[in-house]
Amino acid sequence: MNISVEALKQIDWTFRNVKAKEGIHGLHSYPAMMAPPVARRLIEMLSQPDATVLDPFCGSGTVVVEALRLGRSAIGFDINPLALLIAEVKANPLPPKTLWDAFEQVQMALKDITKVEPPRFANIDYWFKPQVQRQLAKLKSAIDTLQDEPSRKFCLVVFSRVVREASNTRPNEFKLFRLPPEKLQHHDPDVFALFRERFAECAAIMGEWWQCVGGKLPKPRLEKHDARKPLPVEPESVDLVLTSPPYGDARTTVAYGQFSRLSLQWLGLWKEDLDKLGLGGQIRPLQVALPSLKEAMKAISLKDPERTREVQAFYADLRDCLLNIASVVKVGGYAVFVVANRKVKGIKLPTDEAIVEMLPEFTHIVSLPRQIPNKRMPSRTSPSNVPGQTDETMLEENIVILQKVKSTPYHEPNSEQFRLLEKRKRYRVGV
Ligand SMILES: C[S@@+](CC[C@H](N)C(=O)[O-])C[C@H]1O[C@@H](n2cnc3c(N)ncnc32)[C@H](O)[C@@H]1O
Repeated sequence: MNISVEALKQIDWTFRNVKAKEGIHGLHSYPAMMAPPVARRLIEMLSQPDATVLDPFCGSGTVVVEALRLGRSAIGFDINPLALLIAEVKANPLPPKTLWDAFEQVQMALKDITKVEPPRFANIDYWFKPQVQRQLAKLKSAIDTLQDEPSRKFCLVVFSRVVREASNTRPNEFKLFRLPPEKLQHHDPDVFALFRERFAECAAIMGEWWQCVGGKLPKPRLEKHDARKPLPVEPESVDLVLTSPPYGDARTTVAYGQFSRLSLQWLGLWKEDLDKLGLGGQIRPLQVALPSLKEAMKAISLKDPERTREVQAFYADLRDCLLNIASVVKVGGYAVFVVANRKVKGIKLPTDEAIVEMLPEFTHIVSLPRQIPNKRMPSRTSPSNVPGQTDETMLEENIVILQKVKSTPYHEPNSEQFRLLEKRKRYRVGV
């Protein structure tokens, strides 16, 4: 499929007046969500109706859902079970009657349940008042009585919103910060009332979505998978990869794990610290020289050699992911990365250029800049990693479009791809 670069350039990819959380994407917030119109236009322009679209860092499923809406087959991977739950619920439209029947059943179950022990996880008393813990435990048990799995999962997404709102965390923050003492004193949320309100909101969103797609969507494939490991997808079978990978390590950029932790703990899905598992979570060298990063790395190492090692670890992990992604794209297919170039120690890292260099079987079609007007992401991050010291690093991002022009030599025993794939089969990432 050939595309017109001119047509791509003519679009204002910022989509200034469009809400980032439009329609079904407003069901549950998630950090650094892709703007739905960006996903939609790219899928329309870069794939045919019978195409398979893959997002290996699918988060809350913006790409997966938009691909399904456009009739494509969709595959999404992520390491975060909360992200996968949200994506699954968004991809499975339910009619209002089913939702409200489930609500009634939960209300009935709540009447019967007398006392449930809250889960025991570290710091539960720090993040939840005793009364809130009791109410959340009862609500979770009531939801778990639902036999219909799609309805139960919908209720769990609503429950996750309630967990966050009823906790002692500051509202509108992705990271976990406790309410200041004067606010905490008066913080007395009614979990059941919150559930009723959020349920009504989410049911309205889902009802509209159900109507919009005529009650059905194709089923996606959504799985927990670490993109550093070979992807469980047929080689050269995907027409379009559209994804927005993490911008840097979770410690100093977007902490998806911290955002999700309390919900995951209440849902019984918390297994390990996702931020340590994310890209760059463990120090390792970058084995290849990337000319695009050379100057920036040198400048960072002069300021702080330890930070250079962390940055290298991030790019080493990103490169593993890219090699895996490259091998599943069809020759002639596209890989599109929506990335922001973050700063470390005040020095900008050209991740968009590094991605192009890391994918030798692809030709670079174009990189399209866009402003980040209302994406839920911290526009100020902590590149120095000193609390309180922030920098504006995320106000612009690039849509990097590449086309695969030759087959990946992953099956040729002497190729680097073959050796890396073999090595990574033994390299346990811990998911
Ligand atoms: C920028 S977000 C994607 C947001 C998504 N486009 C959306 O609209 O919700 C990046 C995602 O990468 C995931 N992630 C981080 N490291 C990963 C890894 N090694 N393998 C797969 N997913 C990973 C994070 O959990 C996060 O959901």
